[in-house]
Amino acid sequence: MRLQLATWPEVDAYLARSAAIILPIGSTEQHGPTGLIGTDALCAEALAENVGERLGVMVAPTLAVGMAQHHMRFSGSMTLRPSTLLALMRDCLVSLVRHGFTRVLVLNGHGGNIATLQAAFAETQMELDALTPRPELRTRLLNWWELPRVDKVSVELFGDAVGSHATPPEVALTWALHPDRADPRPLDPRIAPRAAFHGAEDFRRQFPDGRIGSDPSLASPALGERILSVAVDEISALARRFFEAE
Ligand code: NI
Repeated sequence: MRLQLATWPEVDAYLARSAAIILPIGSTEQHGPTGLIGTDALCAEALAENVGERLGVMVAPTLAVGMAQHHMRFSGSMTLRPSTLLALMRDCLVSLVRHGFTRVLVLNGHGGNIATLQAAFAETQMELDALTPRPELRTRLLNWWELPRVDKVSVELFGDAVGSHATPPEVALTWALHPDRADPRPLDPRIAPRAAFHGAEDFRRQFPDGRIGSDPSLASPALGERILSVAVDEISALARRFFEAE
């Protein structure tokens, strides 16, 4: 059930029985030489739509640009400054809660968004404190790639080549959605380096092709279907508990 494909009377009818909504958020940033720029947004959107369909829960439009400052030395990457992302999320939450969407599951596809999203949740709660009556908003941040069952199947399928950026699970998921974009060619080095980094210049210097610790050549559309299925099961169970909690 996509908010974008609903009419306002349909949203009214939905809100009469449910306060639940899933808000997908990603990023628009390089994902190595073979991964798609939209990987984080495409993953979050596909997971949200599948979970929304399974649970009969409304899905808000995907916020496709996030905080990706450290990727800006690679062509095509786009970023919001953290203060912009914070304001964007706060305004989206305040808009939703105004109509009665008081249970918001934020389904996130990008690690670089996490700190700012948590700050945005706190900022939103402070803003709601000024209202009488005060709406009781509950938010839950769900970073799909970190979930225990997703992590377990990722390690089973890809071992020590999962890494932390342009990972085979996220790349495979996008290739399941867009098989014509699958590009499992071998990369050199096979597994990219891992290290701490400090800003966009340092990122490019340490990770010249954009990957961190990963080998996305192990990805395939079929393995992406497997990741999608495990992730949709796990997120659906967590989302159901969140939405049904008193
Ligand atoms: Ni990613």
